[in-house]
Amino acid sequence: MQAWTDYQTEHKDRFLEELKDLLRIPSVSADSSHNADTARCAEAVRDALLKAGCTKAEICPTGGHPIVFAERIVDPSLPTILTYGHYDVQPPDPLELWTSGPFEPVVVDGKLYARGACDDKGQMFMHVKALEIMNATNSLACNVKFIIEGEEEVGSNNLGQFLEDNKDRLKADIVLVSDTSMISMEHPSIESGLRGLAYMEVEVVGPNRDLHSGVYGGAVANPITILSKMIASLHDENNHITVQGFYDKVVELTDAERVALNTAPFSLDEYKTDLGVTEDWGEKGYTTLERTGVRPTLELNGIWGGYIGEGAKTVLPSKANAKISMRLVPNQNSHEIAELFSNHFNKIAPGCVKVKVTEHHGGEPVVTPTDSMAYKAAEKAIETTFGKTPIPTRGGGSIPIIALFEKILGLKTVLMGFGLDNDNIHSPNEKYDLANYYKGIETIPYFHKYFAEMSKA
Ligand code: BES
Ligand code: MN
Ligand code: MN
Repeated sequence: MQAWTDYQTEHKDRFLEELKDLLRIPSVSADSSHNADTARCAEAVRDALLKAGCTKAEICPTGGHPIVFAERIVDPSLPTILTYGHYDVQPPDPLELWTSGPFEPVVVDGKLYARGACDDKGQMFMHVKALEIMNATNSLACNVKFIIEGEEEVGSNNLGQFLEDNKDRLKADIVLVSDTSMISMEHPSIESGLRGLAYMEVEVVGPNRDLHSGVYGGAVANPITILSKMIASLHDENNHITVQGFYDKVVELTDAERVALNTAPFSLDEYKTDLGVTEDWGEKGYTTLERTGVRPTLELNGIWGGYIGEGAKTVLPSKANAKISMRLVPNQNSHEIAELFSNHFNKIAPGCVKVKVTEHHGGEPVVTPTDSMAYKAAEKAIETTFGKTPIPTRGGGSIPIIALFEKILGLKTVLMGFGLDNDNIHSPNEKYDLANYYKGIETIPYFHKYFAEMSKA
């Protein structure tokens, strides 16, 4: 629609400045020293939603960081789109690897650099600006509701309860989310699934205190050595995961589905060059796209123990620890997998150490249908603004709350993400291309329009 394009062209610079203001607030949900910033960010989001055209917007306190809920009911007979996003961000460290300050947004070569630029402030804010455009041009085709939470990066621990407590208020026809990526601007795509997550922490304890490694070394088990061996045994020579029962419920793709998945444009050479690795790695018998999209994984996220300070200290440590996460696919269940892992890890522990396994937050995998009206509306919206039919892909990341939208509210989700895999989300120098930001803002109103039209038909 010309009026939408004109409005965006006229207000483009302000749309960028407003996003930058949001990015200056260090809303790091994992770091309680930033609690005041996180609260301030929720207020900024509420104010932005009111300014953009919501008639109601409120901050809903939780046991953790607040949830922003907002709505604009145009006409109860119209369909309702519930937009979900998150205003919290990952911690910015290691700070020394950033070229500019993580909370001092700058544009270089058409890319906006800041923590949260893509994940998820930039993508979430596209929906706020799209609402402003539709509101200003009197063209809201659907009722809108927004849930913008502040705890996605720490597991959305309070959002499930919020959904339970507000079923009525949250009535909608579809959940729309921009918190995923597409292949490229030339090859737009829509993720049709997300992996689940089971996150574990393990501790391996040997002697009751740190020991002199000369006096005792060689005669007492070193927990770091034992933990390393246990970890190394979690994958076999084909890089299959050895946790007993791990694959029992995994849904294998049909040959046709595998062929379809692998038709997405992908260059292994470019992938390797981008990452600076000379060889790829992974479960034997599967392609890279399958390994990240439809196969479960087990990754070490951190490992520590013993002396890691300056210089040398000859110590035989009393304990060693690791954080281990598993990405899950349908029909694995995060708690079942956590239990399988715990049993397995205890079983493989030799008698010379004691093992403690704890479960952190997790989430369930989801598959979003590609034959639904909502998917078709997203497809048509992207066709309109990109001039190409988006390719359905399967994403490797997780957004645990998506499974709960379906379980608690009975709502399906469309993952209309505009990020790129090289946006450095969770890494130093996170960025979001302005082209993607503006294209997203342009595409969202078409989703509203087509979803309304298709709902009527
Ligand atoms: N937006 C990401 C998830 C994502 C990124 C999905 C790219 C698909 C493509 C989200 O903010 C995230 O980082 N989720 C966490 C899980 C959470 C429980 C910490 C993840 O995937 O590690
Ligand atoms: Mn995110
Ligand atoms: Mn994230």
